[in-house]
Amino acid sequence: MSAHRPSPPADKVALTYGKRTWRYPVLTGSEGEKAVDISTLRQDTGLITLDPGYVNTGACTSDITFIDGERGILRHRGYSIEDLAEHCVFLEVAYLLILGKLPNRQEWQSFSDLMNRHSMIHEDMRDFFLNYPEGAHPMAVLSAMVVSLSSFYPEIEQEDPNEPIDITATRLLSKLRTIAAFSYKKSIGEPFVYPSCRMSYCENFLNMMFSSPVNDYTPDPVVVRALNLFLILHADHEQNCSTSVVRIVGSAGSSLYASISAGICALWGPLHGGANQAVIEMLERILREDRGKVDKVIARAKQRDARTRLMGFGHRIYKTYDPRAKIAKEVCTRLLSRLGMRNDPILEIAMELEEKALADSYFQERHLYPNVDFYTGIAYRAMGIPTNMFTVMFAIGRLPGWIAHWMENRRDPRQKIGRPRQIYVGPTARPFIPMDQR
Ligand code: SDX
Repeated sequence: MSAHRPSPPADKVALTYGKRTWRYPVLTGSEGEKAVDISTLRQDTGLITLDPGYVNTGACTSDITFIDGERGILRHRGYSIEDLAEHCVFLEVAYLLILGKLPNRQEWQSFSDLMNRHSMIHEDMRDFFLNYPEGAHPMAVLSAMVVSLSSFYPEIEQEDPNEPIDITATRLLSKLRTIAAFSYKKSIGEPFVYPSCRMSYCENFLNMMFSSPVNDYTPDPVVVRALNLFLILHADHEQNCSTSVVRIVGSAGSSLYASISAGICALWGPLHGGANQAVIEMLERILREDRGKVDKVIARAKQRDARTRLMGFGHRIYKTYDPRAKIAKEVCTRLLSRLGMRNDPILEIAMELEEKALADSYFQERHLYPNVDFYTGIAYRAMGIPTNMFTVMFAIGRLPGWIAHWMENRRDPRQKIGRPRQIYVGPTARPFIPMDQR
């Protein structure tokens, strides 16, 4: 539950309907955001609100992440994304999101030990991978494997959500990375590589992905640092689509594993986490079909057809440059030059696309800027991670945020099962017609 509550209602909003007027309290968050509390609206007035996509509707109070979309601010538990990216590794940010504070040395050590202890998956789960068809998308495998974890670790279901969640969260944080690497190895027909207790979280992931009996792979510290940064940039983003799915599935009393499995499926969509894969496919198509010229893609993006949108651009909340995209662009450029890919044509196309779009009135009028997905795929591609694994990388990064929100929802006494209303516009009552008279 949010440790903080909105300040007591200072002012009210008057709603006049017919001959009556009702007053609803205006709540103010710790960063000055305001919301009108309409929790008694229907019983008072018989009215509900209608807000497709919940553009204007808050589902909860939360003290995990704050975003100011107009000023391009992102903070986790009060710490700016810039500070966290500069000073932390991914697991520290995961600890902060889930447990509400940055770990001291002793807490850090025990968290890291727990991560190591729970990094393997049950040997019987290996067979699951063997029965997937060759072209199975890793997000499908990831979602199925996560929900299957509850069959191998049934004690999770009984765990009291009010207990310190080190074990539950740690088990999932650690195993998701292993499941992701195993699904990659399966897709290329190579033997699984097990996690090592001598490696850090990101080193372990890279090693499980790229080492093999015939490839004596040593994770490059620059790549390890870049991976930590990209996972930090994806760690949480308040009530985005997939996090809202995790919260609403959890609100039904479903287990953490079932809720995260649902969140993975929501993230898979090309308008959400699947955009990082769609960005690279778009850039590679420009290189292949338009000889690197970006004008056609920009012209098509302005046709207002969701299928031809400029992937990696635009955001529901940010109406200025996504602060994560700024960091991702810097890290991506540094990484590619470190890897001797300074003149990568895909990066050059991305930078030209960004420059031309930002100078175009269509994008300016709609406040469309690069979002977190625009540059991350270019860096993952340079690391050797295959395109269909990019959204898996997003899921690994977002997992601590999903866990934190699932726990917050579970612990909030004011939360109930999520169940929006609707306005019915279908046929009114009509007599039944037997089949032979239709
Ligand atoms: C993520 O919510 C989060 O926090 C998500 C996320 C997270 O960390 O969890 O930040 C991760 O999902 C980032 C977004 C990744 N998706 C993409 O990059 C796909 C491309 N972007 C869009 O589809 C779009 O911008 C959305 C889905 C991200 C946001 O869409 P909205 O808020 O519903 O905006 P909209 O569809 O109402 O668009 C407003 C206008 C429309 O034009 P008009 O009808 O006003 O003329 O902007 C246009 C849209 O057509 N528009 C675009 C566009 N995005 C919006 N036009 C061209 N290209 C685009 N990318």
